[in-house]
Amino acid sequence: MKKRHEIQDTLERFFHLQTFRPNQEAIIQSVVSGHDVLAIMATGGGKSLCYQLPALMLSGMTVVISPLIALMKDQVDALLAQGVNVAMLNSSLTYDRQRAIEAAAVAGKIRILYVSPERAVQADFVDMLQKCTVSLFAVDEAHCISMWGHQFRPEYRRIKGLRAFFPGVPFAAFTATATRRVREDIINELRLQSPDVFIGNFDRPNLRYAVYKEPHREVRMKKIASYVAAHRNVSGIIYCFSRADTEEMAAFLMKSQIMAAPYHAGMSTRDRARVQEMFQSNTISVVCATIAFGMGIDKPDVRYVIHAHLPKDLESYYQETGRAGRDGLASDCLLFYSAGDRAKMLRLMEKETDEAKMPAVRERLYQLYFYCETKECRRKLLLKYFDQEMDNCGNCDNCAAKKRAAKKSVKSVPKNAELLPKEMEEEILFAAGELEGMLTVPEFVSFLIGLDRLKTKTLGLRRHKSYGVAKYYQRSVVTNTVEKLIEDGRLRTAGDSIKKVYSGKNVR
Ligand SMILES: Nc1ncnc2c1ncn2[C@@H]1O[C@H](COP(=O)(O)OP(=O)(O)OP(=O)(O)O)[C@@H](O)[C@H]1O
Ligand SMILES: [Mg+2]
Ligand SMILES: [Zn+2]
Repeated sequence: MKKRHEIQDTLERFFHLQTFRPNQEAIIQSVVSGHDVLAIMATGGGKSLCYQLPALMLSGMTVVISPLIALMKDQVDALLAQGVNVAMLNSSLTYDRQRAIEAAAVAGKIRILYVSPERAVQADFVDMLQKCTVSLFAVDEAHCISMWGHQFRPEYRRIKGLRAFFPGVPFAAFTATATRRVREDIINELRLQSPDVFIGNFDRPNLRYAVYKEPHREVRMKKIASYVAAHRNVSGIIYCFSRADTEEMAAFLMKSQIMAAPYHAGMSTRDRARVQEMFQSNTISVVCATIAFGMGIDKPDVRYVIHAHLPKDLESYYQETGRAGRDGLASDCLLFYSAGDRAKMLRLMEKETDEAKMPAVRERLYQLYFYCETKECRRKLLLKYFDQEMDNCGNCDNCAAKKRAAKKSVKSVPKNAELLPKEMEEEILFAAGELEGMLTVPEFVSFLIGLDRLKTKTLGLRRHKSYGVAKYYQRSVVTNTVEKLIEDGRLRTAGDSIKKVYSGKNVR
């Protein structure tokens, strides 16, 4: 703790800030003490500061590995403006410029060096780094390392190679979204040594989540338009499936005298900048966008985010809805979907994804679909996805429906046995085939949910690819489904005293 004053001084002197955001100080403390660190902090939570500030306190150079040139550039410009010696090395620079930066680094003149993951592992680069005093490696957007994350970048997997050349130099990893599986991947893939792990609070109590199943396109657009018309004096974002959809939606709203504009990657940089500027200055109230919109937008008073189509997974969804209500005031997050949307999304993903990654992609889409179909608290489910436990929020559509029902109900309605979506059955059958007779029904259910039960641990099953496939579902629902599969003869139980689960066909 002896460095506390020094940390505070650095914050004021270089960043002109007075106070820390939640977790920042503890993370910084841990990084400057030379520990390996994994920090998970919501979008906009202030992760950059957690490696920039230590970089200014440590004696040598900090190497920041970051996936996008645009993300590096913003940070480098901001730090240069504060008089910090920073540089970035990437393919957008000339050969001479790159050599000059390397020379400066070797001469100890650079405090923070930003590089892409590809560059970070190149032999020439590593040779050069070995001539420098490296005091810290910071890995930003660390979820890119995991195949289970939503932005897998295979190059990230090679970063661990650096550890052999720089034993004793701490690694700090940062990300905004990481499920438990992704967190474990980050720790393993970066070979983090007993890291200090910080997980921020992801809950946003001011966001009201609601989901509507609406297969008819026309009706869907009309419903959206009437919501927007009822909120015409405030700002909102509508995420659409395709470029054409953004244009159609914007035109549809304009017909109702609502100031809307489309925004998508097919527009020129200039047009996009203009739309963003008009939105920031409240000249237009609605942007109808593909996901290209939002990265780097920091408008605090966005009152609603509407998904006019099913997004691709819960991580993207939570990140996109997180753009609503940054000022802490009540805001709505509405999602419209249909089974057809899911099929359409799946086809698109199949086109864009290599086959090896498809199972993970598909799984994430199904989890999102389950979120849409659930009758349970939405926010609870969303946060559970990030391993954060909470009570029913009392604010989402399902919680509201329950409250209404409780008010109305005189006699209690018997609860129908809920089952998992059909696609999950395939996952279960696959798992049963892999585990043939290893587990009893309750153990098998624990395995599917990913519970740390003794058995799954001792058998080394926690690393199995099916471990936790049903982790976002309630135990009772998983049990119901397994029992139904047994009833249908698609699974079997067999054994003398203790019955174990087998796939239907292989029963002895
Ligand atoms: N302690 C602080 N006090 C005030 N503002 C802060 C503080 N820390 C960071 N910020 C500001 O918060 C904004 C977001 O910070 P930053 O870009 O580091 O977020 P991030 O966690 O990396 O988000 P993302 O996941 O989107 O990359 C920046 O404008 C930054 O200057
Ligand atoms: Mg960041
Ligand atoms: Zn709720």
